[in-house]
Amino acid sequence: MAIVTSKEMFRKAYDGGYAIGAFNVNNMEIIQGICEAAIEQRAPLILQVSKGARSYAKHVYLMKLIEAAVEDAEQSAGFDLPICVHLDHGDSFEICKSCIDGGFSSVMIDASSKPFAENVEVTKKVVEYAHDHGVVVEAELGTLAGVEDEVKVSAEDSSYTRPEEVEEFVSKTGCDSLAIAIGTSHGAYKFKPEQCTRNEKGILVPPPLRFDVLEEVSKRLPGFPIVLHGSSSVPQEFVKKVNEFGGKMPDAVGIPEEQLRKAATMAVCKINIDSDLRLAMTANIREYLCEHPDAFDPRQYLKPGRAAIKEMVAHKMVDVLGCSGKA
Ligand code: G3H
Ligand code: 13P
Ligand code: ZN
Repeated sequence: MAIVTSKEMFRKAYDGGYAIGAFNVNNMEIIQGICEAAIEQRAPLILQVSKGARSYAKHVYLMKLIEAAVEDAEQSAGFDLPICVHLDHGDSFEICKSCIDGGFSSVMIDASSKPFAENVEVTKKVVEYAHDHGVVVEAELGTLAGVEDEVKVSAEDSSYTRPEEVEEFVSKTGCDSLAIAIGTSHGAYKFKPEQCTRNEKGILVPPPLRFDVLEEVSKRLPGFPIVLHGSSSVPQEFVKKVNEFGGKMPDAVGIPEEQLRKAATMAVCKINIDSDLRLAMTANIREYLCEHPDAFDPRQYLKPGRAAIKEMVAHKMVDVLGCSGKA
């Protein structure tokens, strides 16, 4: 099997009460770490590429690396790894077209910051082009706080998805999945300390996700796959490790994993995770370099970095997404 769309993955995930992990990729080690975990876990997989990733690594490098991962899975593990290759936060028709023409099987058009009618218009245009080319489309309604492709969205400018808009949006655009805002947010600093409470260990606890909004959306769109962005949990042991080995990440806080597990049993079929992979990789590289100050061969420190990605992804597949063994 080569690169596939998310259509079949989402149908099974919806019916099976689990979600597919969508992990952001920027280089070879990240792709390898994620794919090694997916092969071991026999898990369906979405690899996603942001505009920033494309300008860092170039589309062609990422595409060829992903194709290599599919080929390697077949040859060395004897396993048809179903991978969907997805554009994360496409902000224009042009970037979506470029990714569709360049071999992606899925694109996101994120016009969520635009007025409703404009969001419908550009999403519909992308859907028409994508569907003509056998590619599926994720769209977004509502605005997440945090950083989206280098643009900072403040908590004040974020807004929950309005359930009363979703049926009209989906029927007018023909999109295949919908990202909604229910309180997740991008990056490793999802909430200000004053938005949180502290538990008995003094750790920040963020406000709970708005499951009422998710429920209302899924009632209005029965069987339709919902996407959650900004779903890193920012595990405190990794923040601690980063800080222990020379880093400085004060008050980093994420979405509790049990809330994401709950969302995965509901209509949420795709859960986006980037920051937790960055955090795990950085923690291990920092540790390695601090413990081996003479090391200067990038392979020496990228190896534990890659291993950290694999471990984090496997943990997500088993304990959060519930997609292990579903490929
Ligand atoms: O949602 C944003 C993703 O984490 C990608 O981040 O734009 O820095 O590549 P990036
Ligand atoms: P995190 O920053 O929470 O990992 O979210 C990633 C994301 O939503 C990518 O689109
Ligand atoms: Zn996102």
